[in-house]
Amino acid sequence: MNTDTESAARGKGAIEGGNHAALWHGRFAEGPDAQAVAFETSIHVDERMAADDIAGSKAHAAMLGSAGIISRAEADAIVSTLDGIAADLNSGALSVDPSAEDIHSFVEGVLTDRLGETGKKVHTGRSRNDQIALDERLYLRHAVPDLQRRLVTLISVLNDIAGSHTETLLSGYTHLQRAQPVTLAHHVCAWSWMLVRDHGRLSDALKRINLSPLGAGALAASGLPLDREAVASALGFEGVTQNSLDTVADRDYCIEITAALSLLMAHLSRFCEEIIIWSTEEFKFIDLSEKWSTGSSIMPQKKNPDFAELIRGRTGKVYGDLIALLTMIKGLPLAYNRDMQEDKSSLFDAYDTALSCVTVFTHMIGTARWNTERMAASCTGGHANATDVADYLVRKGMPFRTAHGVAASAVRLCIERGCNIEDLPLADLQACSPLIEADLYACITSEACVSARDITGGPAPAQVKRQIAALRAFCVEHS
Ligand code: ARG
Repeated sequence: MNTDTESAARGKGAIEGGNHAALWHGRFAEGPDAQAVAFETSIHVDERMAADDIAGSKAHAAMLGSAGIISRAEADAIVSTLDGIAADLNSGALSVDPSAEDIHSFVEGVLTDRLGETGKKVHTGRSRNDQIALDERLYLRHAVPDLQRRLVTLISVLNDIAGSHTETLLSGYTHLQRAQPVTLAHHVCAWSWMLVRDHGRLSDALKRINLSPLGAGALAASGLPLDREAVASALGFEGVTQNSLDTVADRDYCIEITAALSLLMAHLSRFCEEIIIWSTEEFKFIDLSEKWSTGSSIMPQKKNPDFAELIRGRTGKVYGDLIALLTMIKGLPLAYNRDMQEDKSSLFDAYDTALSCVTVFTHMIGTARWNTERMAASCTGGHANATDVADYLVRKGMPFRTAHGVAASAVRLCIERGCNIEDLPLADLQACSPLIEADLYACITSEACVSARDITGGPAPAQVKRQIAALRAFCVEHS
């Protein structure tokens, strides 16, 4: 145990609970090799669940008291000592002991130090196998909504951008070739809807997480009359899990969250790819703020979109976490196997990475400037209005396939002459089809192409304003 002076010198709270043998030492005549201990401990990874571990232990102890498995006085003493431990960890008066085997051993060790024999009753009818499943579920139940709140902030920042650019013309692309005119608002809303679904996937996973595993024990529940439902309701769970083997053997809830985070990262990564392309001299649609750009140590002129690149780069790490989790589980016989301890480093890495990427992306996009002239210019020069020539002819009764051919012949003429469709004299257009009249020109301006697409999901400003309103309602509902 550290002295107060040592702790104060390190600017940290006192370390307690570190003078215990491992929770399982009784059967062993010999203590473990120091390297073995270093290899198997998980405290550096699971210490972030200290508050959750304590909350779970409090609910469990209170239930033990109400069920008459321990006395009420003992239960009360355990609960109030655990409260004290939580408060001391919070205030910094107590630090997690890095030499504890895991967070469960640490909390139980401090509890026993502070409370004596009664502290040893907290683990009655419980195993670290159901305890870890509980801690993870409790942790995810608050950590995931924290991330979802940041996602909502990002969606609302994107929505503000969209709101200011419902008339800002921008070429839409397929195959990275100019395709049809849209608006910046429409494009940005496309990103937002992807994020809305990411938010929904996380919520879906949370629904399945919200069942209490406590009472599953090591694998075969408990012979003691535990009141699992009481623990579940004290901890705000919707109910309890139904099979003790399943409860301690699966980590599908971690995998689901990491899968949802992987998809979120895929989305951020492709937005970043567009931002990287858009900030090139060749495109110049976006100008990232200097606060969210970096320079070059050799080329004095450089302003690089490193943050977008880092988000794109870190996406692979999150996919790696998902693959690690899936691979961890795939060969495990029921029930608990120690392989499962490895779930947390992957899960937390995926979580931390996604959280920081969402946050940084929000700052980066929220402080960027948009070059509306360059975006508008992208709509001309690539015959992006050719489909609208065909649609014009369709409105005059021509079958679409024929109209497609007529518009293509106009495009061929433009390519020969090095001009745009709207630059062709009426006589040349009429040579392509006599159905073309002078009113065609008004139908094929970029603005007209956009506002003609006035159906649900289309880029017409009126439609995009509806999208923006729906996204705003989503943000309000989820903030
Ligand atoms: N640290 C372990 C984990 O994260 C807790 C459960 C340990 N159980 C055991 N039987 N060794 O999975």
